[in-house]
Amino acid sequence: MTWCIVATWPFSLAGLEQAARGLQAGSSALEAAIAVARQVESDPEVDSVGLGGIPNLDGIVELDAAVMDGRDLSIGAVAALQHCLSPVLVADRVRTATAHQMLVGAGAEKLAAAMGLQRASLLTDKSLKAWQDRKAALEARQSVPVGHDTVGIAALDLDGNLAAATSTSGIAMKLAGRVGDSPLAGSGFYADNDIGAAAATGLGEDIMKGCLCYEAVALMRSGLDPQSAAEQAIRQLHRRLARTRDHVGDMALVCADRQGRIGAAANHASFQYAAAGPGQAPAVRPAPQVG
Ligand code: GLY
Repeated sequence: MTWCIVATWPFSLAGLEQAARGLQAGSSALEAAIAVARQVESDPEVDSVGLGGIPNLDGIVELDAAVMDGRDLSIGAVAALQHCLSPVLVADRVRTATAHQMLVGAGAEKLAAAMGLQRASLLTDKSLKAWQDRKAALEARQSVPVGHDTVGIAALDLDGNLAAATSTSGIAMKLAGRVGDSPLAGSGFYADNDIGAAAATGLGEDIMKGCLCYEAVALMRSGLDPQSAAEQAIRQLHRRLARTRDHVGDMALVCADRQGRIGAAANHASFQYAAAGPGQAPAVRPAPQVG
C-alpha cells in the first residue's frame, strides 16, 4: 500500500508537509485532507480562504467548504457560512452527524455553534482594506480582480482510502448568498475509493458547467492516469466554453488515484500545487497549462 497527497496553490504547502507526515504514520486520507484545509483556513495571510478571506459585496466574509470520503461516497458541505474560523470542520460534521449533505447560511452557522465553535470575525485589517479598495474601484466603474484561490486537497492513505476537501471564501465582491463550485460534489471535489479523488480551484461559475472533478475521476475510471485525466478534463471544458464566448474563467484541478499517482492541470499559466508521496518530499510545482 502507498499514500500520496496533492493540494492547490503554494499556500497549502505548510499544511501538506504536516499531513504528509501523518499519512506516513498511518493517518487517514480524510484526516490529512481536513488538516490541510484547516491550516490554510487559519492563516490570515491567505486572502481567499477562512480568516482574512475575501468579503462579499456587502463586506461580509461568506465561506464555502466540503469534505468527501471515498470509502462510502459520504459528503458534507457548507455554503455561505459566516463568522466561522473552520468551515471544513462544520462540513465534516454535516457529513457525520446529520442526515444531509449540505447546510447553508444560518443553518450552517447554527451547526457550528452546536459544535462549540466560537463565532468569530473573519475580517482582518488587510481584507477590510482590500474590500474598501475594490468597492471604490467598482464605484469608479473600474474592473476588480476576481480572486478565487480555493484550497482543494486530494489524498490517499496507507489503507487505500481516498478523500477530498475544499475551502474558500469564493470570488471577490460576490452577491450575498452566492455559492461557488467548492461545496458542490462533482464540481469542486470528488472522491471514490474505487478510482481516485480530485479538487478544483478557479471560477466556480465555469467549473460548475462541466462538473470538473467528477469528470476527472470519470476519466481515471476510463483508464487515464491522473495527469492525463487532469489535462483532459480541463482541456475539454475550456474548449467547450470557448466555443461560445471570448473569455473562459481560470480553472485548475489536482487529482490522485488509488495507485498513489497524482495529476494537476490548469487553463492558465499561474497555477501551482503542492504534492508529496513516498520518496517525494513535499514540494510546490507548476502545473501544465492546457486549453
Ligand atoms: N472556486 C471558488 C469559487 O468560485 O467560489
